[in-house]
Amino acid sequence: MTATRVCALSELEQDSAIRVEVEGVAMAVVLDSAGEVHAIGDVCTHGDISLAEGFVDGDTLECWAHGSAFSLRTGQPLNLPAYEPVPVFAVTIDGDDVLIDPAVKKAV
Ligand code: FES
Repeated sequence: MTATRVCALSELEQDSAIRVEVEGVAMAVVLDSAGEVHAIGDVCTHGDISLAEGFVDGDTLECWAHGSAFSLRTGQPLNLPAYEPVPVFAVTIDGDDVLIDPAVKKAV
């Protein structure tokens, strides 16, 4: 698989998430307040909830349903009730294009 363009960098709002799908893999893409773009699995590991509908706080994305916050860097939940991590995907920025290969997990 190759990296796929998911959106324009200029389309992303700071401290908010959008849901994208690449090769059938749902991801939450976040531009954090430091200007870094992250991509993590979009489905909360506690329930079938889209994390992209949650809240960005620093380098975490909080599920709106029951409040588990996932690290955008490691995918680990930082508090219960979720206890399983979500995958973290490597993001490439090419000019104004945000590219993600769902087969490439980011090493953390
Ligand atoms: S569904 Fe996400 S914390 Fe419960």
